[in-house]
Amino acid sequence: MTTEPTPGNETLEILYNRASLRSYLDRDIPQEVMQKIYKAGKHAATGGNLQPVSIIEIRDREIRKKLGEMCWQNFMADAPVHLLFCIDLRRLQRWAALNRAPFTATRSIRTFWISFQDVIICAQNICTAADAIGLGSVYIGTIMEYLKDLKVMFELPEGVLPVVLLCLGYPVKKPEISNKLDAQVFVHSEKYRELPDAELNDSYRRKYPRERFEMTEKTRRTFLEVCTRVVGPDKAGEWLRKAEENGGFNMAQRYYALHYRADLMCQNNAEFIGILRDYGFGCFDEQPGF
Ligand SMILES: Cc1cc2nc3c(=O)[nH]c(=O)nc-3n(C[C@H](O)[C@H](O)[C@H](O)COP(=O)(O)O)c2cc1C
Repeated sequence: MTTEPTPGNETLEILYNRASLRSYLDRDIPQEVMQKIYKAGKHAATGGNLQPVSIIEIRDREIRKKLGEMCWQNFMADAPVHLLFCIDLRRLQRWAALNRAPFTATRSIRTFWISFQDVIICAQNICTAADAIGLGSVYIGTIMEYLKDLKVMFELPEGVLPVVLLCLGYPVKKPEISNKLDAQVFVHSEKYRELPDAELNDSYRRKYPRERFEMTEKTRRTFLEVCTRVVGPDKAGEWLRKAEENGGFNMAQRYYALHYRADLMCQNNAEFIGILRDYGFGCFDEQPGF
């Protein structure tokens, strides 16, 4: 995909050309370079100017390799630096305690909501700074499946919760820029405008020009299983027949029936809330007394 020209504006050029990097040169990132990047994180906007953020810088090759294996993404080991971005309410809790201030932040969904945004905004500043310096990066969201392990591996105390990991390194070559929805699809003037069906489908078709995905025995079975659980056996059978008539699965089916499986995504919510509780974030429970 090509981008708009950005004559004379380096910031826009960096933003328009951003793409996730998954192949890295075997070259270390000097600490002076990292310090420049962190400074961009320092200046990120943050709710109440509280900065509830901590970053674990991971350089140890064995640990990077282990993280790559855990997440089934072996390229991660080649990125010389991993940054684990965490919500950190512990530092604020300690500050409050040292200064005789009341503290309930780990029990508040509102604080969780804001802190999550603070972490991501800081991460994205860091990501852009890294791009500006000639590095590249990719976020790894899969770490959320391994929160229990991360707590042990990085000795995270209560109140410090990993949100996302960023792999950083020098590019082997400039990564391809992905197709995206155009701004007129996601920007609404004054009020939310529901796109007409055809316009909506066309915008996704432009984004994902590949029309059909081949069906195998395995993908057929998975599709039927997921659809049966989510929409019932009648629709599941009907949708499979239609996909067969059309010569394969479409992109929406690939995403939600085969990749981010709609049935698995909403499983074990209670277990996830339990893990957050173990991290000291009891905010999804009722708070008696308040
Ligand atoms: C929250 C988040 C989690 C992501 N997790 C992964 C991941 O686990 N593995 C991966 O290869 N890419 C991951 N990505 C990168 C996306 O796949 C990528 O941003 C998307 O495909 C668009 O491509 P682009 O970044 O090159 O524009 C993640 C991105 C975000 C924002």
